[in-house]
Amino acid sequence: MLQGLTCSCGAVAAGDAWACAKRGSDDQDHVLRLPMPEWSVDDTSRQPFVRYRRMLRSWVEAEDDEWFVAEVGRLDDAVAEVDGHGFEVTPCSEALIGERSITVKNETGNVSGSHKARHTFGLMLHLLVRERRAGGAADRPLLAVASCGNAAVAAAVVAAAARWPITVYVPVVAEEAVVDRLRELGATVEFCPRIDGEEGDPSYHRFREAVGAGAVPFGCQGPDNGYTIDGGRTLGYELAEQAPDTDRVYVQVGGGALAASVAQGMAVGGSPAALMAVQTEGCAPLARAWQRTAELGGLDEARRQRSAVMRPWTPAPFSAATGILDDETYDWAAVAEAMAATGGHPVVVPEPVVAEACEAGRAATGINVSPTGSAGLAGLLCDDPPSEANPAVLFTGAQR
Ligand SMILES: Cc1ncc(COP(=O)(O)O)c(C=O)c1O
Repeated sequence: MLQGLTCSCGAVAAGDAWACAKRGSDDQDHVLRLPMPEWSVDDTSRQPFVRYRRMLRSWVEAEDDEWFVAEVGRLDDAVAEVDGHGFEVTPCSEALIGERSITVKNETGNVSGSHKARHTFGLMLHLLVRERRAGGAADRPLLAVASCGNAAVAAAVVAAAARWPITVYVPVVAEEAVVDRLRELGATVEFCPRIDGEEGDPSYHRFREAVGAGAVPFGCQGPDNGYTIDGGRTLGYELAEQAPDTDRVYVQVGGGALAASVAQGMAVGGSPAALMAVQTEGCAPLARAWQRTAELGGLDEARRQRSAVMRPWTPAPFSAATGILDDETYDWAAVAEAMAATGGHPVVVPEPVVAEACEAGRAATGINVSPTGSAGLAGLLCDDPPSEANPAVLFTGAQR
């Protein structure tokens, strides 16, 4: 029997549950939380899911190291066939941007062009572990994801590699190039028009209906699937090893799973870095929640009053950093917890700085990063830490 994760509300989930059963039944925040592992690195491998496997929950649940390593290898080879290459520790180097020396971790060359495939590869390992426990691939449940950007492509690449059926729920305005790539990868693409009287994102509603009907939430948001943080943490493990002197890390925040994963991975690796969560002025629900949390006297109370803290951003979010326009920061509590624990804070970037930072970052590094992918740098430029600081940013999300 698998042991279920504990939700931030205190309830213990069933072993096979991806999310808390109480989610939506009250005004509490419900996110299943992965335990923090002991730091443990296999120096013989540069494949992150082998190198850091002993810190993965999927490895713990597999209870068979040899099988797990072989399975990661098989899946990684299949990813390489689908996407041109598999996973390898991504580059991390110093760049002089303006007057400052900044550590830049480059995720733009990672599988599917961003860090997102770390989340979905990690989820797929859980599915394969569970399938093996159940005795084989008799009846594979459909995978579902709501996204029209990097998360969708990352999910479809990994699903194609595992030959697992997936449906991607996208808005009617989804970019044609992304839709074409999703279809090329064999995903079923469902366009989701707005329905009169229905509030919020229609793609997300259709996705939730699919999950309600038995599909596996195969995305990059903790409340839908707490296990998505497992693979995401490998980015933090890498940064902790590659830049141990980092004293603050500026992370662009959309749904928040990236920042939560990186902060947790770095903490496990003993990094002293403060987490700085970066949003733009056109969509900054996390900064608002951070302030509201302080007014309510702390995170415990804020988690019990979710709707008072995390509300969908209005009017319609806008920014050149289109990948972080989630109108809610789904993983807000994990990000706020990490900021509080490390002495970090949110940074809200004025819109013009988004493009300026992207240009400066590209010019200094030669990396073809998107405005979303360099939004952490925009946050650093606005926050303007002291000259003796050792800041790091993540360039994730290649310009398509
Ligand atoms: C390139 C890039 N960077 C950062 C993010 C933010 O990640 P999260 O939604 O987990 O906060 C996204 C999300 O789509 C992204 O595509």
